[in-house]
Amino acid sequence: MFLNTNFPKAQKYWYEGDLRDWSEAGCHPMTHALHYGSCVFEGIRAYGTAKGPAVFRLPEHVDRFMLSAGVVKMKCRFSKDEIAEAIKETVRANGLESCYIRPLLFYGYGNLGLVPKACPVELAISAWEWGAYLGENAAQGVNAFISPWRRVHHTQFNMSAKLGGVYVQSTICALEAREQGFGECIFLNMEGRVAEGPGQNVFIVKGQTLVTNGRLESALEGITRTSLLEIGQDLGFKTQVGPITKEDLFGADEAFYCGTATEVIPIVTVTDGSDPAAPRAKYTIGAGQPGPVAGRLIKAFQDAVTGREPRYEKWLTYVGP
Ligand SMILES: Cc1ncc(COP(=O)(O)O)c(C=O)c1O
Repeated sequence: MFLNTNFPKAQKYWYEGDLRDWSEAGCHPMTHALHYGSCVFEGIRAYGTAKGPAVFRLPEHVDRFMLSAGVVKMKCRFSKDEIAEAIKETVRANGLESCYIRPLLFYGYGNLGLVPKACPVELAISAWEWGAYLGENAAQGVNAFISPWRRVHHTQFNMSAKLGGVYVQSTICALEAREQGFGECIFLNMEGRVAEGPGQNVFIVKGQTLVTNGRLESALEGITRTSLLEIGQDLGFKTQVGPITKEDLFGADEAFYCGTATEVIPIVTVTDGSDPAAPRAKYTIGAGQPGPVAGRLIKAFQDAVTGREPRYEKWLTYVGP
């Protein structure tokens, strides 16, 4: 019996073309993805709007989902349009206004060699009400910890893909940060510069300029990040995509995480744990509290996702009745 205790309001999930009750599930221990992380996923949000729930940037998420599938050589029997429809159907079937949506494509049960030659590729889509990813207090700013582990390098793996196995690094480092009382971790890349969070991009603010990095810094070029770059420009900020050194981060006026699950969350201190042999230094970012630029972006982002700003309605796909 699978309870929805940690998946508020989840009633149904979509599996290979059908809706199933949330409590009904089965997965054989020899499912390929369980052993090797041979699955790809998306993280999507829908928000309540005056015209009913709308999925934020659905086509971009579905495009990235299929890009990820291609990286693991998966052949999905559903088209992008069918997947988009199934996502909308899942939100509707759960009667959700505002929710997180998790499409998952995985190599199933067939054989256990690393090459999944007899494993079907299976698609599941779940949705539930997921509030503040970093906790209710995170809006007041999080204390971030620079992990001693360097982010998987962009020459080792296509960092534009969301591949389950690669997220083991995120899980480990997010756990290590929390064990030590930090709100979240930040990865450096192999060059020693800022890469990203375990499930978020990082922005810094310098004066009137928003700075974030990209693929060549071993960061996933997130959809929230791309949206914030556009919103930031519309608000009159300069934007810059390029490397962020540790010193840039420590000396920033403001810093924040962004991502679909996290949304936009200010970073108020950074503790440098990147060299386990060195004493740790703790840096206060700006005034040590959520800054005005992050505040404006958070408001503008909320207006965009909830359809209150017509300029960004282009990013919304209404789920429909
Ligand atoms: C590693 C990583 N970086 C960045 C992001 C932010 O991407 P997005 O804004 O598309 O959710 C995510 C979340 O998907 C992520 O997992």
